[in-house]
Amino acid sequence: MQSFSLFSLDGIVSLPIFNKWACLLYVIYRNIEPLYIDGRLLQAAHSPVQLLQFLYHNINPWSIVDARLKFAYAILGVYFGAWLNVRWRNGLLGAPQRIRGKKEWGQELAFVTGGAQGIGKATVELLDQKGCNVAAVDILDFGSSYSNVKTYKCDISSLSDLQSVAECIKADFANVPSASASGLDEKNVAAGSPTMVLNIAGINNHSLILDLNEQKVQRMLDINLKSHFLTAMVFLPAMIKRKAGHFCSISSTMGLVGICHQSDYVATKHGLLGMYESLRYELDKMYRVPHVRTSVAIIGHTRTTLFNDFIFTHSLGRFLGPLVTPESIAQKVVNDALGKRESRYICHPFINHLAPIAKTLPSWGRDALQWSTGADGAYPSRPTKQQLGEA
Ligand SMILES: NC(=O)c1ccc[n+]([C@@H]2O[C@H](COP(=O)([O-])OP(=O)(O)OC[C@H]3O[C@@H](n4cnc5c(N)ncnc54)[C@H](O)[C@@H]3O)[C@@H](O)[C@H]2O)c1
Repeated sequence: MQSFSLFSLDGIVSLPIFNKWACLLYVIYRNIEPLYIDGRLLQAAHSPVQLLQFLYHNINPWSIVDARLKFAYAILGVYFGAWLNVRWRNGLLGAPQRIRGKKEWGQELAFVTGGAQGIGKATVELLDQKGCNVAAVDILDFGSSYSNVKTYKCDISSLSDLQSVAECIKADFANVPSASASGLDEKNVAAGSPTMVLNIAGINNHSLILDLNEQKVQRMLDINLKSHFLTAMVFLPAMIKRKAGHFCSISSTMGLVGICHQSDYVATKHGLLGMYESLRYELDKMYRVPHVRTSVAIIGHTRTTLFNDFIFTHSLGRFLGPLVTPESIAQKVVNDALGKRESRYICHPFINHLAPIAKTLPSWGRDALQWSTGADGAYPSRPTKQQLGEA
């Protein structure tokens, strides 16, 4: 599903025939005269297999003067780079870290936080459609009509709440066969322990720093950051014993850049990315469980209640950061990371791949970028005269 406007930068770079990689390469390889680029070649650039077929049938591989060949090889190079990147993190072909075999969703038990609405709800629905067993929690009272889903009220910032819910889940899902499809070591793992954890719940204070108070900051840290450590403490031990599982969290574009009215939120989303950096190496080097996968989603402005009062003051902001749907985030997380049983950094929309560049810009460049998005004026509140010492 096209979840963003075609009139956004993301829409342009993701147009099916003008594949994102092709577009990126096109920018890098500016020296290629556009007229030389065959329309059929662009179409084929959408997949490496189609591209190789196109080359085989249409281009003499020895004709180095053919600009199309240079273009096609460059795109193949990017596909190879992207493939190698994922393979390196998850195990090279034939290496022991590679999980083989089809994923059996019916043998998985997903623990999802923030399941009552927004991205959490969309994820729960998608997992149910796939036949996965789901234990969804939220601080709100909520229910579900889906057959594979059980819901629980729980404050994820409280360790005792999480521990009691974990006991309930063990009892409610005791009949779920443990995830043995991977053929991995399953011994010593109690039935009913989640095989996948999706930390989705979050809050946003959208306040200027002096309008925050101690309680608000504490609540932000507890829900948006501490809770990810708590779910790790409660559910990772079983995954480590099983030597399989998937631990996943939702960060944000604001895990890479900061804007006004978001200092506390931005701090937690940056912190989350830091936590995942260390967690991956601990699981690989200390616990020696490369099959316990870790994925983190770096997502942009999504159509949910959390950021519904966020309004870009410049239309360029919307061009650079298109609005995406919660369903498209769920698709990315469930299909690209969980479905493939691979650790992934999921960037959605695509433009988020470029967000780290913001930190490398000179200060004037960064200011220009910040100004061009208009994100700093997105919320209406402004410092009071008293705060400015003018009253
Ligand atoms: N919406 C966006 O534009 C956007 C952008 C980037 C990242 N994110 C992240 O995506 C995640 C989901 O956000 P969303 O847009 O679906 O928001 P949402 O407000 O629609 O849903 C968040 C859910 O978390 C629940 N929750 C809050 N505190 C909780 C607690 N203590 N215990 C249990 N549940 C609690 C809420 O009740 C709510 O159901 C969040 O982590 C958010 O930071 C959202």
